Amino acid sequence: MADLEIRNLHAAIGDKEILSGISLDINQGEVVALMGPNGSGKSTLAFVLAGHPKYTVTKGSITFQGKNLLQMKPHERSRAGLFLSFQYPSEVSGVTVSNFIRTALNARLPAPIKIVEFAKRLKEKMQLLNVDSKLVNRYLNEGFSGGEKKKTEMLQLSLLEPKLAILDETDSGTDVDALRVIGEGVTKIAQSTNMGILIITHYNRILHYIQPHQVHVLVAGKIVKSGGAELAHEIEKHGFDAMKAKEVR
Ligand SMILES: Nc1ncnc2c1ncn2[C@@H]1O[C@H](COP(=O)(O)OP(=O)(O)O)[C@@H](O)[C@H]1O
Ligand SMILES: [Mg+2]
Repeated sequence: MADLEIRNLHAAIGDKEILSGISLDINQGEVVALMGPNGSGKSTLAFVLAGHPKYTVTKGSITFQGKNLLQMKPHERSRAGLFLSFQYPSEVSGVTVSNFIRTALNARLPAPIKIVEFAKRLKEKMQLLNVDSKLVNRYLNEGFSGGEKKKTEMLQLSLLEPKLAILDETDSGTDVDALRVIGEGVTKIAQSTNMGILIITHYNRILHYIQPHQVHVLVAGKIVKSGGAELAHEIEKHGFDAMKAKEVR
């Protein structure tokens, strides 16, 4: 049994069906990429996993380590070890990156982490991800470049160390520098922890920096193709349209 099992998932907004029978598995220690054109339902899947009230699951199931995820409240999902995108403020004056991450970490722990212990872990992860100490002492997101924002997010992810992270990276404002930071960050985190990572993207460029164990292609609410890392390169060469045509035949 996989750590996260999605089976024949159908989900709707109001009476409009967006996801039409998705099945996929993710295990701890695996990087899985979900790709697809705009409007195919990628973010919808992330929201459904997060338990967003706007979406109704009309059919199918999701289990996380044997438990029925759909019966769990969003905070229970997080406590169980699921990290769902970044609950990320745009800019926080007067709160440094380091304090922000410590607060986020403490929110998930039964008792607050000792400052010395936090400083030690922070230093370790800063080394892993090549984060400059100047960055962690700056006020969160104030004047940050796209790459610096993503560095901060990768640092947060590595310190929270969930069992499974779902990263929806379809932000159209994401520049090349930010994509590289995400790609390198995800790779290093995957290599140094047992975290499972679902990376959602319409940019195949990000997969230049990540070797996913599995790639799934979502078109119009259905997974039309699954494969290994080579599938991302196929999409880069031929685009999603070729894939749609192939599936119809
Ligand atoms: N509030 C909404 N009401 C109706 N349809 C919506 C709403 N939000 C998104 N959709 C539709 O759901 C589909 C999937 O959207 P989304 O999950 O954001 O796709 P992706 O992340 O792959 O670009 C799109 O066709 C979009 O128009
Ligand atoms: Mg999206």
